[in-house]
Amino acid sequence: MTPTVERMDEQARAILRQNDRGGYTIPTAGLYPYQWNWDSVFVALGFMEFDEPRAWAELETLFDAQWPNGMVPHIVFRHDDPDYFPGPSVWGTDGLDLPMPTSGISQPPVAATAIHWMVDAARDKQAALSKARALLPKLNAWHQWWVDARDPDGLGVVAMSHPWESGRDNLPDWDAPGDAIDVRAIGDYTRRDTSHIDTAMRPKKKDYDRYLALVQFGKSKNWDPAAIAADSPFWVADVGVSAILLRADRDLLALAERLIPGDTMISQARARIARLEAGFDRLWDSRQGAFCNKDLRTGAFAPAATAATLLCFYAGVGTPVQRTRVIEMATGWAEKVRYMCPSFDPTSGLFDPLRYWRGPTWAIFNFMIGVGLWEAGETGLADRVKRDTKALMEANGFAEYYSAVDGTSAGGDAFSWTAAVWLSWISPSLKEHKKTG
Ligand code: DGY
Repeated sequence: MTPTVERMDEQARAILRQNDRGGYTIPTAGLYPYQWNWDSVFVALGFMEFDEPRAWAELETLFDAQWPNGMVPHIVFRHDDPDYFPGPSVWGTDGLDLPMPTSGISQPPVAATAIHWMVDAARDKQAALSKARALLPKLNAWHQWWVDARDPDGLGVVAMSHPWESGRDNLPDWDAPGDAIDVRAIGDYTRRDTSHIDTAMRPKKKDYDRYLALVQFGKSKNWDPAAIAADSPFWVADVGVSAILLRADRDLLALAERLIPGDTMISQARARIARLEAGFDRLWDSRQGAFCNKDLRTGAFAPAATAATLLCFYAGVGTPVQRTRVIEMATGWAEKVRYMCPSFDPTSGLFDPLRYWRGPTWAIFNFMIGVGLWEAGETGLADRVKRDTKALMEANGFAEYYSAVDGTSAGGDAFSWTAAVWLSWISPSLKEHKKTG
């Protein structure tokens, strides 16, 4: 029997409360025992629906860990937890004079977009405007870090220095570029993720060897962005982060124009937007008829499109012809899988329905895709994405992710960002507002 809306709302709120560690929220107990960057941002949207001060606190604690160079790290380590590998000592950021121990890379910059929505949705407008105003310079420094550190050549697309930076760890797109990573000196290590989750749902050992080698590489360069850009064996432009950053810059600009007119961050944001808009077309692979990730060392495109291809609508880019091709592609995917939107092309031989980012459907990605499609007037597909997300959660709870083929729940359970997506986008108890479609 389908659970009632009240029951789903209650469970989702309970998950956020139970994963709250006091000002910040872990994604799920055991598997991910620290604060993760983009997880926290989606969590803030969830809290916004029932506890606005707590929602703002989630973002403030994340930005408390911002590096002096503007980077907002992908994991914030407030303690050392044996449940997770690689922990703070492996990242070795302790000599860098940081506010607290963190990882050495970033994650998709969804925060400015979330903050824009939070300001619109806030019941306590005064508090929201003052919280947003205080966060704006930090957001601007982070966005500038993205273009300076990960696009030093001004291509208008941002490079991933590690698959984890994309948030989509084991996408098939990283396989071929990863061949350039030398793993011979990594030494022995013990993974912890596979003690929590079925091995078949997680990245393979070959992937982990590469993840670790890249962490050791970054540490050997003292996490210096210029040295990483010059020498990283892995340097791949990501459609996902490029689109998310472009959207986030549009949201930052709108907030800054409203809250601090005349501030220099307005011209900086405009310059970044122009650069990212111009650069996005570099990721159009005319052979595949899709926006695809690109190895910036070799110039090779990834083997297939991913869910991020559909973020062109969220980012407001693409010519009418390109957008039509992407819609045709997505329509084909929708016929092939039961639950939109698979993270990787389901017509590809590399599609794997349960292995993390190699095929499964993720609520947070559906959220961004659904919003973008809705805004672009693609309401048929937008409705399908939202309906499928709802059906997955009602049938299988708030899992980390789900099989796009049969809806099987996978990865960690009682997952914060999935619960947050229910609360902020899916729940029929939401007032009709802003982004939801
Ligand atoms: C992990 O450890 O699986 C994370 O995705 C890294 O961010």
